Amino acid sequence: MIIQDFTANEVTNKIDEISFSWESPSNIALVKYWGKNPDQTPKNPSISFTLSNCTTKTSILFKRIDKTSKNIGFDLIFDGKKNTSFRPKIVKFFSMIQQYCPYLKDYHLLISSSNSFPHSSGIASSASSMSALSLCIMSLEKKLTLIDDDYFFKKASFISRIGSGSASRSVYGGVNFWGKHKELNNSSDLYSVKLSKNISPKFNNYRDVILIIDDKEKEVSSSVGHGLMNDNPFSKVRFNAANNNITKLLQILASGNLNDFCELVEGEALMLHSLMMNSNPSYILMKPETLEVIERIQDFRENSEIPVCFTLDAGSNVHVLFPENFSKEVMTFIEKELASLCKGGKFITDFIGEGPKQF
Ligand code: PMV
Repeated sequence: MIIQDFTANEVTNKIDEISFSWESPSNIALVKYWGKNPDQTPKNPSISFTLSNCTTKTSILFKRIDKTSKNIGFDLIFDGKKNTSFRPKIVKFFSMIQQYCPYLKDYHLLISSSNSFPHSSGIASSASSMSALSLCIMSLEKKLTLIDDDYFFKKASFISRIGSGSASRSVYGGVNFWGKHKELNNSSDLYSVKLSKNISPKFNNYRDVILIIDDKEKEVSSSVGHGLMNDNPFSKVRFNAANNNITKLLQILASGNLNDFCELVEGEALMLHSLMMNSNPSYILMKPETLEVIERIQDFRENSEIPVCFTLDAGSNVHVLFPENFSKEVMTFIEKELASLCKGGKFITDFIGEGPKQF
């Protein structure tokens, strides 16, 4: 089914060659998206913080071709080298968005991309890479047709979602919401919205230190994990719990109650991983060091009364979340007690950011 709101306007400009570049950040979900429908809509809504330092920079040179091609033609350069491993994902993405971006078939795309965070650091890059790619495509659409800024970002989120669900939450800075929920009138399963009202200043510049526990590609991909939710015996319970957690998190974000924030965010991370353990086949992505880190964070919180907590993506790495004003104490704790549990002592210091930038 084609969603009419996102079909492209008539092309009013003829452009032979043009290039656009966007730097787009990754994001970390607080209430997790886990389980999806065949049309890449989520089984439950999610809320995330957009990051700053973990970004993908993507440039696309669009060159008009003489004859409209059947498929969208492209070459991909990653980290300065021709890349073939990401090709199948991009081919699939293009085939899914071409009904919304038919003008792409008039062009050959030279895509050049690189990540700010170390390659193979075990950090999911699909959110930053798919959103950067989508923003470059939307920049072309903006040049060819008449669209306003609101629509530009809404459609960028819409097509990012088709590439990777979590990428829909990376086109705006701050706190993002994706998925229909009764408490937010403008929420949608098709794209994310930025939460700009009712966020306590305690969350300004909130920190996220990503502890690299394992830098290898995870054994079970997110797409396989989402698929396994279809037959997970706890899926119904989970989707209800996620909806309730959204209601609670909206209240917490407004009140700035950081103890409740820690409890909810950690519960979400552990529920995500317990769903994996309860899948058929069952799998575990946490490593012994993940559990040790979790225990040390919880002990530190109890002893210091500093509201620091952890969350996890679909992997073994740990995101340590805390308010900016406790940076000194928490960074000392991380360096002294957690860095030794990281692969090669590696961690990445990040914080809530402003969102993608055109360069
Ligand atoms: O966007 P995907 O398909 O890579 O799925 C992301 C799933 C989680 O990172 C585990 C949760 C989330 O909401 O980002």
